[in-house]
Amino acid sequence: MAEETLTITDNRTGRRYEVPIRNGAISATDLQKITSNGSGSGLLSYDPAFLNTASCRSAITFIDGERSILRYRGYPVEELAEHSSFLEVAYLLIHGEMPDPTQRQQWVDAITHHTLLHENIKKLIDGFHHDAHPMGILVGTVGALSTFYPDAKDIFKEESRRLQILRLIAKMPTLAAFAARHAVGMPYAYPDNDLSYAGNFLNMMWKATELKYEPNPVLERALDVLLILHADHEQNCSTNVMRAVGSAHADPFSATAAAAAALYGPLHGGANEQVLRMLGEIGSINRVPEYVKRVRSGELRLMGFGHRVYKNYDPRAQIIKKVADDVLAVTGRSPLLDIALELERVALADDYFIKHRLYPNVDFYSGIIYAAIGFPVEMFPVLFAIGRTPGWLAQWQEGLLDPEQKIARPRQVYTGPPERHLPGIRAAKAGAGTSAG
Ligand code: CMC
Repeated sequence: MAEETLTITDNRTGRRYEVPIRNGAISATDLQKITSNGSGSGLLSYDPAFLNTASCRSAITFIDGERSILRYRGYPVEELAEHSSFLEVAYLLIHGEMPDPTQRQQWVDAITHHTLLHENIKKLIDGFHHDAHPMGILVGTVGALSTFYPDAKDIFKEESRRLQILRLIAKMPTLAAFAARHAVGMPYAYPDNDLSYAGNFLNMMWKATELKYEPNPVLERALDVLLILHADHEQNCSTNVMRAVGSAHADPFSATAAAAAALYGPLHGGANEQVLRMLGEIGSINRVPEYVKRVRSGELRLMGFGHRVYKNYDPRAQIIKKVADDVLAVTGRSPLLDIALELERVALADDYFIKHRLYPNVDFYSGIIYAAIGFPVEMFPVLFAIGRTPGWLAQWQEGLLDPEQKIARPRQVYTGPPERHLPGIRAAKAGAGTSAG
């Protein structure tokens, strides 16, 4: 028996139950023993959006929304954003510790070695319509990679998992950049293994006829920081999908495609794209109050504001604001930033936002930075997906190896009609009932 327990009295029957509390949680299955009149299937907990339900134990990411804390494997995200690279953070998320210099070198070399795509994937991308959304291309092609790597099905072999993790982290930027170049009809630019992860991505996005692409170091670093800030966020919508698909023992390429599909939604990774569209729609600083009024009336949501977990401020948004200054010092000030700053100022002083505890989230400024670097808005959720890939993979692997996990299969509270029958069958049943007397 655990040291801490909860006593529940069922007022329907007057019976009392004692359930253990472990790590601040009761087990929902312990409620099954609570039945009315000793029959039925036992009490369920009803939580349609997992507002207060832990679906796993996890040692990867810690969030305290009230105190605006975000830590990967115990390290504050602010520290990682300032002092480490995205690939080091990816290593940390997957392995649990920061790499030593040798591990770091091997990890970076291995990922660099896997950046190329099978040429048939290029043909697949060619088949998409010219105006296909790059996130749709990413979802389709990352799923298609599972057919190129049937060994990915060996999910319980450590060496296979390691290989697929390397492949996925390495190939996501290549898929993303190829998808972007397809949209503008440019030939695909192959990875340059001399460059950093972020630098190579900029190369694959924008290399034209020059022999060697040289990324701007400020933009390269800004992109790396943004990837770090997106690398994991515990049990968010897409990670929950990654774990759920993984729990059915699907290969990690298929699970990543499913997670990326969840991220595509405008309430999740699609929000940064919506922020830019919203700022464009507002158009000028003097139209900000009118827009906020429409939000207050319930007509619109302010994209890039609010978070399920952070109720004071999103720590990532604060770091991003600083990165935005660095980037705009290189690219030139954006009128959209002025609108965003005014929107933030007006919203934070407004009763509606104060009452609902709505603050800028990670997506509010990230879109402005991406736009300043030169990414088209359609690429914003794709950039989020590249950053989130190590987190998805760390969570997938943790779920797979957790002896307490099984195939994810929630319960439901049935609210439909009781048993009934089609007309002909009803008459026959009634007849049978009569003759039976
Ligand atoms: N603008 C206006 N009102 C809002 C907003 C917003 N952005 N967000 C929440 N509210 C209101 C909402 O109308 C509701 O009001 P009421 O209680 O009066 O009906 C209340 O605040 C609670 O909203 P909710 O939808 O129940 O909150 P949630 O925790 O389910 O939603 C959210 C969180 C992020 C989906 C939501 O805040 C939202 O839609 N924000 C805009 C989209 C966005 O920026 N998403 C990116 C999230 S950060 C990146 C990520 O993790 O994916």
